[in-house]
Amino acid sequence: MTPNDIQEQLIKYLTDAHSIERQALVQMKAAPGMAGDAEMAAVFEQHRTETEEHERLVDERLTALGASPSKIKDIAGAVTGAGFGLFAKLQPDTPGKLVAHGFSYEHMELAAYDMLARVADGAGAAETAQMARRIEAQEAAMAERVAGMFDRALDASLRDLSPDDLRDQIRKYLEDAHAIEAQAIQLLSKGPDLAGTSELASIYEEHLAESREHQQLIDNCLKSYGARPSRLKDAALRMGALNWGMFFGAQPDTPAKLAAFSYAFEHLEIAAYELLRRMAGRAGDEQTKSSAETILREERAAADKVHRAFDSALDASLEAQGVAAR
Ligand SMILES: [Fe+2]
Ligand SMILES: [Fe+2]
Ligand SMILES: [Fe+2]
Repeated sequence: MTPNDIQEQLIKYLTDAHSIERQALVQMKAAPGMAGDAEMAAVFEQHRTETEEHERLVDERLTALGASPSKIKDIAGAVTGAGFGLFAKLQPDTPGKLVAHGFSYEHMELAAYDMLARVADGAGAAETAQMARRIEAQEAAMAERVAGMFDRALDASLRDLSPDDLRDQIRKYLEDAHAIEAQAIQLLSKGPDLAGTSELASIYEEHLAESREHQQLIDNCLKSYGARPSRLKDAALRMGALNWGMFFGAQPDTPAKLAAFSYAFEHLEIAAYELLRRMAGRAGDEQTKSSAETILREERAAADKVHRAFDSALDASLEAQGVAAR
């Protein structure tokens, strides 16, 4: 293998990071106005400044590595078309959705920089590796701050609602959770074929079985809210903006992308259940609260397992593209 191959990969991962930051910037500009709370708005405002800095740093690295602007644009277009744009389509319309989405997106960024750092290590690009780890730490810190806002977001979402509306909200969150699990099942049932390694294949397979149980638990909770199938369909349509098109056609770099995306998706679920368990607690709905807590533990465990498999996912992606394993 020529050293050029890994250089090429490095530029690709940098370009991915660049386009992720661009989308982050759009979100950070919109978020303060949707937060419904001054303190939350300030958190997003602050991360907007960080995001601008990230984009600049990544841009600088790309230039230093000799990536031409037209090439950057080409790859960025392909990346956006291929799926990192998915998250941007999930339009948050309440403070609760905003923090769930933000929490997940920060983990998408964290995964992207984690992988970039690993590729940079393999390419002997110390400066890029260092930059990636510095930004990764800032994304992780932002994810933590967002996680600290779950209660506040619920306060802001529920502020003007009567106790009856609270039940209505729980039903909606349950319907959304049902739709999220449907998406998870769809993604995970393709996972084993696209995983790239047997380790990841079995992680996806196990979590597929868990996700089916999650959906069943949510179904049971929904029964006490008299949920109708037509409403479940509506929720599924709301989630339909997430389509897994890119993953269903296997690309050479699918194992790494799928691992990063699954990691972010697990965090979307984590946020959804963090909100649901709090809301159910406020309404005294013990069944929903304890179901959410049970599911939450498994979502967290699945996210951790996927994270620990990043190295093998990357190796599989690099090997599939004829780049020597690091
Ligand atoms: Fe960033
Ligand atoms: Fe970020
Ligand atoms: Fe999950």
